[in-house]
Formats: sequence, C-alpha cells, structure tokens
Amino acid sequence: MASRGLLIAPSILTADFGHLEEQARAAEAAGADLWHLDVMDGHFVPAITFGAAIVEVFRRTTALPIEVHLMVANPAAQLRPFAEAGAQRLIFHHEAAPEPHALLEATRALGCERGIAISPGTPVAAVAPLLGELEQVTVMLIEPGRGGQPMMPELLEKVRELRALIGAAGLATRIEVDGGVKAHNVAICAAAGTDIAVAGSAVFNASQTPAEAIAELRAALASA
Ligand code: DX5
Ligand code: ZN
Repeated sequence: MASRGLLIAPSILTADFGHLEEQARAAEAAGADLWHLDVMDGHFVPAITFGAAIVEVFRRTTALPIEVHLMVANPAAQLRPFAEAGAQRLIFHHEAAPEPHALLEATRALGCERGIAISPGTPVAAVAPLLGELEQVTVMLIEPGRGGQPMMPELLEKVRELRALIGAAGLATRIEVDGGVKAHNVAICAAAGTDIAVAGSAVFNASQTPAEAIAELRAALASA
C-alpha cells in the first residue's frame, strides 16, 4: 500500500512562529505535499492557535495546497473566512457538527473540498453514510488539542474500515491520519490505507531541519 504514494502534510503547531515564512518555504522546498493548518478556538479544544490571517501568509508564501483543520465549536461561522483566506479544503469535526449536511453543502458552495475529522471516541459508523458527500475523512490518532502527543496505533483500525467501505462503494474519498505520525510509524499508516499523513512535530522540531525530517519520512515509506 505504500506504493499508493502517501502525501505528507506538515502541521505548523510546533513551528517557530517568529520565522513562519522562512519555515514555510523550507518545508515546501523539502518536498511537503500540502499544508495542514490547525485552527483551535479555545472551546472545542482548550487551546487557541490562529485565524484566517495566518492562512493568508501561507497562501502568499508557498504554492502548496492548504487544508484547514477546524477544531472549533461552531464551524458554520468559520467556513467563509478560511475559504476566502485561500484554503482549498475545509475539515470540520463530526463531534461539532453531528448533522453536517448543510455545512458540507456550504463548504462546496464556497468552492472548497469537504473534509470531516473524527476524534478517537467517534466510530467510523458516524461518517459512513456521508462518504459520498466528502472528499476526505481525517482520522485523529490522538485527542485533538495539541501537537507532539504519541499516536494511538490501534486507531488505524478505523483507516482499514474506511478503506474497505470506500473501496466497496467505488468512491474516491481520501483518508487522512492526524496525530503522532513519525518516521517509525508512517509505514503502518500507509499500509492501513492512508492517503495523507499529517506530520507536525515530526517536521518542525529542535533536532532536525524540515528537509531532514521529510527525507526521513519518505525513506521510511520507501523501505517499508
Ligand atoms: C492536533 C492537531 C494535529 C497535530 C499534529 O490537535 O490536529 O494536526 O498537532 O502534530 P503532531 O504530528 O506533532 O501530532
Ligand atoms: Zn490537525
């Protein structure tokens, strides 16, 4: 399954916000495939990260596609600002929007791809009936709220389940994993059927450059 060509989506939660443009350029030059920008509102999760202005910085600074992971309690109010800031894909949480049809339609009407994230306690069954209305499901492998937490690999069972459902239905819905992806576990994510792996602290950390980090992730995939 590694040959499917897993995409790597850096998250900037552990990046140096004093040198954001420089770090964004470095990760793009290092071969990142897209940006995964984590928005937290202090309600859905305790922390607050950033708003649409930071998404605009990425839009101006790099040519990579941008997905915005909305860890917010009221996603309906946030779709337009992030779409206008340049996000190609908006991902909101099923836990914040258990009746998501209107939000999915609003996302599509804004010209963005539609993603739904499921936290560890939410089963695949919650999104199974929606797979035909989505471009992506994001499977959280940690509790949302902060970067640098260890992955719970047993949650990859959800990826296998989704892969089977998507295959059986003949859909093109992509599967993303988010949380704790590192060089030592990225290959098991790919083998489970993942299309996109978010990598935060694996890419932005004190011991490596983004180029070294992304090369290490790709090497781990190639040798799997
Ligand atoms: C957590 C975020 C993730 C995460 C990624 O709430 O959604 O994107 O911080 O960072 P790492 O890869 O360090 O878990
Ligand atoms: Zn995220």
